[in-house]
Amino acid sequence: MYTDPKILESIRKVEAARAENVKLNPARMSAEEKEVLLRTFHPDYRENQFTTLRIGPNKGGKVPLELAALLEGKPRIDLEKPHLERVDYDADVLIIGGGGAGCSAAIEADNAGAKVLLVTKLRMGDANTMMAEGGIQAADKPNDSPAQHFLDAYGGGHFAAQKDLLYKLVTEAPEAIQWLSGLGVEFDKAPDGTMITTHGGGTSRKRMHAAKDYSGAEIMRTLRDEVLNRGIEVVDFTSAIELIKDENGRCAGAVLQNMETKELLIARAKTVILATGGAGRLHYQGFPTSNHYGATADGLILGYRAGAKLLYPDTLQYHPTGAAFPAQIYGALVTEKVRSVGAMLVNCEGEAFMNPLETRDVAAASIIRECSERQKGVKTPLGDAVWLDTPMIERKGGKGTIEKRIPAMMRMFGKHGIDIRTEPILVYPTLHYQNGGLHITPDGQTDVENLFAAGEVVGGIHGRNRLMGNSLLDIIVFGRNAGRNAGEKSKSVTIGALTLSHVAAFEEERSAAGIETDTLSPRLLPDYTRKRD
Ligand code: FUM
Repeated sequence: MYTDPKILESIRKVEAARAENVKLNPARMSAEEKEVLLRTFHPDYRENQFTTLRIGPNKGGKVPLELAALLEGKPRIDLEKPHLERVDYDADVLIIGGGGAGCSAAIEADNAGAKVLLVTKLRMGDANTMMAEGGIQAADKPNDSPAQHFLDAYGGGHFAAQKDLLYKLVTEAPEAIQWLSGLGVEFDKAPDGTMITTHGGGTSRKRMHAAKDYSGAEIMRTLRDEVLNRGIEVVDFTSAIELIKDENGRCAGAVLQNMETKELLIARAKTVILATGGAGRLHYQGFPTSNHYGATADGLILGYRAGAKLLYPDTLQYHPTGAAFPAQIYGALVTEKVRSVGAMLVNCEGEAFMNPLETRDVAAASIIRECSERQKGVKTPLGDAVWLDTPMIERKGGKGTIEKRIPAMMRMFGKHGIDIRTEPILVYPTLHYQNGGLHITPDGQTDVENLFAAGEVVGGIHGRNRLMGNSLLDIIVFGRNAGRNAGEKSKSVTIGALTLSHVAAFEEERSAAGIETDTLSPRLLPDYTRKRD
């Protein structure tokens, strides 16, 4: 509920401007304008927030400070102790991560006839997939094509996407939707049975398929059921804290740790898939995050220490519309779909300052500019914010649109006494996605033999900025791809003697570089304990 007199005064200005704003369609920025805006206001360009890696496959490369501390951190295992004398789990394919990519991989590896073991540090479905709201892109309408989808994503990603990966993403998208539908995902449909599709930021066609504004939860529910129904072995509340190789340098399993008892367990596997997701809980630059509790970059650390290269680890996605008020939902995702269905971003004076469907990096930078240089933000207890004028949605789309199309948003704010049908909401960028990650080939393999990766832990599919709805798509396309290929590959693998010598070698490199640190990595969970003065 809004009670602050200044906020109430600003709301009156937003209401007064609404009738005119509804008629507006602010011009898109030119390429030059975007370039200047990003360089000046996007957090990826704050040079003092990055450092150069001193060790590992990306030595000399730029990464955020918080990630560097972990990539150059100390392993959690005591290398003086023997860890590999006993094997607790034996699998053809070990999948680390129980989100959308991990579950899709598990299903396809199972289809390939492999014995699959899925380990997850929380529960299956405790993942960014579950929290995804707006939808999943696929060019499956007559006015659209994978080529058009490619062009949108390639441009939106600043022409930096790995073309072979992006090609795979867009060409396999229509089949991914069919696959999900076949498994039981209830996408929104028109009375004649055709899929309802909308725009997202940077799309030239309406190709966002959604299940209202809880698309990720609907997809995750379905994938999780499928994994369970197949009887695939799942070990939950168990994290991977180190990868294991065999004497031939090929990935051959992982050291696991029970999250509660801290007991170490050894999983041996012919192939391994990292599907550990993102890094929002590292709170880069102090930003809040829309990510789930376990998003701490674990897969990047494990892969890196084993010798896998990272691509674009210096590019993060700040979702333009994180909830900025009230404090209880600070940083929570306000789906881009809110803008797709008609809401506009306006400043404290009620002025529309950008086209609501600019790409995310541009939209986030634009909001930061409004709140900093232009001083047109609204003061909240946690910082400045701008308005997302949700009542516009019903003016444009008719009464009932909000409840029908974005019911989760209505509920989230409703719990805090804000009726988004009649009152605008306050938003500010929130850390949402890591654009970069492990380098893979189109078959899903990293630079380490028999180590595959899928989902947000991968870098390069989207270039340096991802469009809405291409992440739910990539976890399906590349999750299935990794599962299929890791399953097939496992048939020809004979595992040699297990070793952790690569971890010892990394430690030696760290010590030779003079890096002293107490930081243990992977992080596994964020630390929100209050520090005493
Ligand atoms: O805004 C959203 O619903 C987020 C979607 C995405 O990151 O793809």
